[in-house]
Amino acid sequence: MTTISVAKSSQVKEGELLAVAVENQKVMLTRIDGKVYAVENKCPHLGMPLAKGKVCDRAVTCRWHGAAFDLTTGANVKWVDSFVGVPLPEWSHKVLSVGKSAQGLKTFNVAEQGDDVSIVM
Ligand code: FES
Repeated sequence: MTTISVAKSSQVKEGELLAVAVENQKVMLTRIDGKVYAVENKCPHLGMPLAKGKVCDRAVTCRWHGAAFDLTTGANVKWVDSFVGVPLPEWSHKVLSVGKSAQGLKTFNVAEQGDDVSIVM
């Protein structure tokens, strides 16, 4: 088991996203109800960075096509339904998905001690 320091605690703010790199993996950190969570920073739809998305109710919504993921579990809570924030009609969602099914995000174990946030791999 390896512990990799990725941020200072003060950098991980409630409801905000912080992009970090961990051994060539794109990861993002957030703090929800005081606890730090880490999930992959790569949307499973087209691979765009999720750290540029919007956080609401423990979930991040991808800014590109609207897929949303629970930041505490990585679970997909909504699949694609829009284009850069503009809602699209339901008939177009299948086309927009480009053959990809809804899927969640990889999660990472996090350790927070003092002012240090680490990923445990
Ligand atoms: S790239 Fe994220 S929803 Fe399309």
